[in-house]
Amino acid sequence: MQQPSNIGILALEIYFPNQYCDQAELEQFDGVSAGKYTIGLGQAQLGFCYPDEDVNSMALTVTQNLLQRNKISTHQIGFLEVGTETLIDKSKSTKTYLMQLFGDNSRIEGVDVKNACFGGTQALFHAVNWLESSYCDGRLALVVCSDIAVYARGPARCTGGAGAVAVLLGPDAPLVFDSRVRALHMAHEFDFYKPDPSSEYATVDGQASVRCYLSALDSCYMLFREQLAKADGTDILSAKQPRYYCFHTPFSRLVQKSFARLAYLDCALRQKHGGPGNGIDKCFAGFESLTLEQSRSSKEFESVCLKASQGQFDEQASPCLLLARRTGNMYTPSVYASLVSCLIGASPSELVGQRIALFSYGSGLAAAMFSVTCTDDPHRLAQLIGSLSHVTGWLDDRKKVTPEEFHRVLQEREEAYAKKPEPYSAESPRFGGLRGGTHYLAGIDSSWRRTYRVWPGQSD
Ligand code: ACO
Repeated sequence: MQQPSNIGILALEIYFPNQYCDQAELEQFDGVSAGKYTIGLGQAQLGFCYPDEDVNSMALTVTQNLLQRNKISTHQIGFLEVGTETLIDKSKSTKTYLMQLFGDNSRIEGVDVKNACFGGTQALFHAVNWLESSYCDGRLALVVCSDIAVYARGPARCTGGAGAVAVLLGPDAPLVFDSRVRALHMAHEFDFYKPDPSSEYATVDGQASVRCYLSALDSCYMLFREQLAKADGTDILSAKQPRYYCFHTPFSRLVQKSFARLAYLDCALRQKHGGPGNGIDKCFAGFESLTLEQSRSSKEFESVCLKASQGQFDEQASPCLLLARRTGNMYTPSVYASLVSCLIGASPSELVGQRIALFSYGSGLAAAMFSVTCTDDPHRLAQLIGSLSHVTGWLDDRKKVTPEEFHRVLQEREEAYAKKPEPYSAESPRFGGLRGGTHYLAGIDSSWRRTYRVWPGQSD
């Protein structure tokens, strides 16, 4: 068989729940100062699920929608892995629930992958490895990320969210992975982890997790620049730089701070390699003696970086935050939701031949920066973007619920967690409000077995 070339992303699909809480209302309800969540963290809305939905139902919905929308036969799939950190079974994988969609095609490699928000990216790397390997028989690979991000009541709760993404991968793709560009950073940290079996919530040191995120970003970015240069066969300053940056987004303000660091790291690289100065380099004058670590903890330097990079941020990263600002942190799907935002915010002519960088971070910790290059064919890009044309309508059509209702749902979820559920079977969703074509949790029996049904109606 001929070696496949131009392996990359053939199609993307996203799913998020049909209700949200407004962050300004949440500020008021939580008794924090106005602006803390909306300006300080940069969040507008927060999506959440009623008990009719879980990570399996969202994974089923997003996978079914991807196959249908792109007219992919279930027999075309040879590899499927799921990234999730939302545990509903200590043994049975979400991937095995997804097998219900594949009829008599039982020959699909892959299971679930876990490491906080990074599991989906590792699943994606596994899928690419499979497509490049001698085990691939010409079929396509699918990666599904699905999570429900809920925090204990307190400062982290407003950074929750929920959603799922499906990514179809194969050769001759409109978004091609830049081969040999996988800048990794892995370390042992206790910034965010889930050790308590009686609770769904993470044990989280929020400020430490931000420091870990930024330090992983620094390492990944420096390596990324080196790898890009090697891939392009050029020196570190001449490699073609990404046009857009998609970040794992716990909250949008962290992405703006992250992008600001890249402006500073670029300046450091130019100075180290004797490149010509850039217009914004002079903003960093006077801070030359800071070590990388000091530069991460200085608030004064942070605001200099933010100011210097504002214009570039507005063009290169802010458009990729559309979904994150309005849905919150989806955990594993987050960086791919950013890619979806990037695609729906740009026209095919803006994307042709452009490189898009992705930074994926999972606490504990595992991180990577990698990139895709868009095809030169505007028709293929238009097709990819066109398949996501329903997403903004979905966002706008969601139902707004009060902060009281949001906290009440989370309280009930907290009380039910790790307890044997009362068996039930429901012909229709118990909480209403689902879009047509959405899978929901239709029952749990006395042996804890979950069954799912599709709420009738056409998905957009
Ligand atoms: N108007 C404008 N800005 C305000 C206001 C206001 N009224 N009040 C506060 N702020 C600003 C603060 O100055 C701060 O900004 P800065 O960081 O630029 O200085 C920001 O709002 C947040 O305020 P803090 O007091 O720092 O917030 P707090 O410590 O209470 O919580 C945190 C923030 C730590 C991010 C918390 O939400 C959390 O723990 N989240 C979960 C962990 C997380 O998401 N980590 C990220 C990486 S790991 C992952 O993806 C899960």
